[in-house]
Parts: sequence; C-alpha cells; structure tokens
Amino acid sequence: MKFIIEKDYDKMSRSAADIFAEHIEQNPSCVLGLATGSTPEGLYACLVKDCSDGKISFSDVTTFNLDEYCDLPVENEQSYRYFMNFNLFDHVDIAKNRTNLPCGIKADDETCKNYEQAIEDEGGIDIQLLGIGHNGHIGFNEPSDSFSVITNLVDLKDSTIEANSRFFDDISDVPKRAITMGIGTIMKARKVVVVANGQGKAEIVKKAFFGPVVPEVPASVLQLHPDVTVVLDDEAASLIPKD
Ligand code: GLP
Repeated sequence: MKFIIEKDYDKMSRSAADIFAEHIEQNPSCVLGLATGSTPEGLYACLVKDCSDGKISFSDVTTFNLDEYCDLPVENEQSYRYFMNFNLFDHVDIAKNRTNLPCGIKADDETCKNYEQAIEDEGGIDIQLLGIGHNGHIGFNEPSDSFSVITNLVDLKDSTIEANSRFFDDISDVPKRAITMGIGTIMKARKVVVVANGQGKAEIVKKAFFGPVVPEVPASVLQLHPDVTVVLDDEAASLIPKD
C-alpha cells in the first residue's frame, strides 16, 4: 500500500484528484469506480475544475458508483444519483448514459447480478475511489463475519444510519437498506484510491490499514490488494506508524 499524507483537506483532495486526472489523460476511455460521502466532494470539485480548464475530458469515460440507498427516488437530494449529478456529472462533459449507479428502487437479486454484469461488460473497473466509514465500511459493505463477494443488498448498521443522519432532516428518514458493490467487486478493480480526512477517521485508518485483515473491518481487505493508494490529511494520518 502506498500512503500520501497531505497537510489539509484541500491538499488531500487535489492530490487524490491528480491521480484520477492523470489516469483520465492517459486513458481517455477508462472505467472509473466512484464513491459518495462528504470526503470525495473536494476531489470532485478539483476534477470539475480540471475539466473546465480543458486539462481533462470525460467524453469517453464510463463510471460505476459503489452504492445507492434503497427506496429513495433519484430526485431525492439524498440519493447518491443526485449527489453524483450535483457534485460531478452535471459539470463535466460526461455522457450521462455512461454513468451507472445501482438501482435502489428495484433493489433485488436480479439488479445486483445485472450491475455486476454491466461492470464486466465494460472490461472491469480501472481505478476505484473509496471513502471509509467510521466502522470500516467501504461502499456499504458493513462489518460482518464474512467478506461479501458481489453486488448485494445490505441492512445498514445503526452506526452508519446515525453517521449518515447528518444529511437528512430526521434520523427516521435515513434508509435502512442499501445496494452496494461487494468486497469482491471492489477487489477486482485494477487500482484503488482511498481518501480519508479529519481526526474522526484516524482510529479507523489505523485499524483498517495496520491491523489484522478481518471482515469485522471491511476496509482491512484492501491490505491484500496489489495496487492501493491511501490519501490522507495530517489528522486522519495522526495514528498511523511513522516509519
Ligand atoms: C457512506 C458511503 C461510503 C462512504 C462513507 C464515508 O455511508 N456509503 O461510500 O465512504 O459513508 O462517508 P464520509 O466521507 O461522509 O465520511
């Protein structure tokens, strides 16, 4: 695993965005795996800027997002489709029909299989962006007693519902279920970039990347991936070994 540690959130965002921008420049028709959450917002803002400055183009890029809440219509401001349009897709030259998110409305086994197949049909994910939940979840793969393999339906943990309630008017509005790429899907990506910032992520960063690989900490599996870059700010990196 490679670690890049930057002074603050803005520098972390720029640094992680550079990895994506470079990749898009070199492979204009690449397949990106994208993530939501507050952490990647700055990175998306950097990519929007790069695109409007003419440095990169998304015109041949295909994207697959990690996850989506179940039962939230895409027009709902808290749906991940809305988030992606708002933060990235509406501001770059991407073809919307090449932007994919799991369908949270028709969330069943067939939808999961089709999503997995759609990724394979595009030749797999070249570079996958990940945030990390406070409990170590990646996508919506929650702590469990086994690693999930393919795109699947999950019951969200109370801790995740609580953490994500900050985006909703009331905690009772937070969906209880989601559909997410599996750990196996994520591990098949050719390259993975993880972003985390703030003191609140310091403990889980240490546990996930310097602790044992266990399904109770889903992100720990990334230690077994051959090409992972973790981009942190000073605070999120504050508990990791210094050598
Ligand atoms: C959400 C998303 C994850 C994200 C995580 C962290 O639940 N499903 O993909 O990485 O939470 O979010 P944040 O970046 O806001 O801390």
